Amino acid sequence: MAWQKHDMEFLGGRRLRRPRMAGWSRDLVRETTLTPHDFIWPLFVVEGQNERQPVASMPGVERLSIDLAVQAAKDAHAEGIPALALFPNTDPSKRTEDGHEATNRDNLVCRALSAIKDAVPEIGLVADVALDPYTSHGHDGVMAGEEILNDETVAILVQQALVQARSGADVIAPSDMMDGRIAAIRQALDDEGMEKTIVLSYAAKYASAFYGPFREAVGSGARLKGSKLTYQMDPANAEDAIREVEQDLAEGADWIMVKPGMLYLDICRMLKDRFDVPLFAYQISGEYSMISIAAQAGALDRDAAMAESLLAFKRAGCSGILTYFALDMARKLNA
Ligand code: PBG
Repeated sequence: MAWQKHDMEFLGGRRLRRPRMAGWSRDLVRETTLTPHDFIWPLFVVEGQNERQPVASMPGVERLSIDLAVQAAKDAHAEGIPALALFPNTDPSKRTEDGHEATNRDNLVCRALSAIKDAVPEIGLVADVALDPYTSHGHDGVMAGEEILNDETVAILVQQALVQARSGADVIAPSDMMDGRIAAIRQALDDEGMEKTIVLSYAAKYASAFYGPFREAVGSGARLKGSKLTYQMDPANAEDAIREVEQDLAEGADWIMVKPGMLYLDICRMLKDRFDVPLFAYQISGEYSMISIAAQAGALDRDAAMAESLLAFKRAGCSGILTYFALDMARKLNA
């Protein structure tokens, strides 16, 4: 039987397409928006001068020497991006079993932090705490045989956090997933008079297959022996994320992060509904590359896919997103 106009009675006269018909009404009722203030831009740094190295698995992403990273920071600040997250590609000669280069006050990331802080003091700087860019085996902690040692690693991470904070990091972001590191780092920062330094915990960090391109970018991938399943979370688990966040907040974390992002938006929403703290998500390297490489192959419109993927994080309740698209997206939003 043909649809009759009076059947609308069953819908109470409501037509959900009505506000979708014009741009002005779509603009009026939109629930979430993106602004350049939503982004933290991850940058990869290398030694050298005027050095720019494309990361093959991440089209559009380059490792930059410190001078160029300073320029990138100026560009980001000009577009309204509030913060950068720095990751070093450490020279192979400085990668050791115990990753002690991580605690060197003069290491690459510390020099990059101070150079950027000097040149662009207004931009927030996030420093990653974990040993993987510094270890010969590519793990985030120190090892005994096959085992990643928890408490021995935490002792080194504390020293790493202190050199980063002293070099100008505003936010210390432990991504290592050792137990107890938030409390240990918070205590050490306070003892050293750095009680203003923010701690952003990668609280719910999953052992993901999508970190591959990042590991190429920092040069840890080819070295990595075995998996990170004994410290990063099992992708099958949601409740474990609640326990991780409860624990990290109890230990003094200011902000929390979910990582990866796009595949874990259910975790973002669940945590947002449960905990009253700023929530961040990391649209990780593999998620960036899926979109970028599909766009290069002509399968997706890059700009539209980028915008939609980032909006999804806001809809899921995130305050901010770590994304390699940050500068591109900010430029589009400001255009
Ligand atoms: C390491 C670290 C990783 C990322 C950020 N910090 C990789 C890993 O845990 O192996 C991944 C980010 C990305 O994939 O973009 N502590």
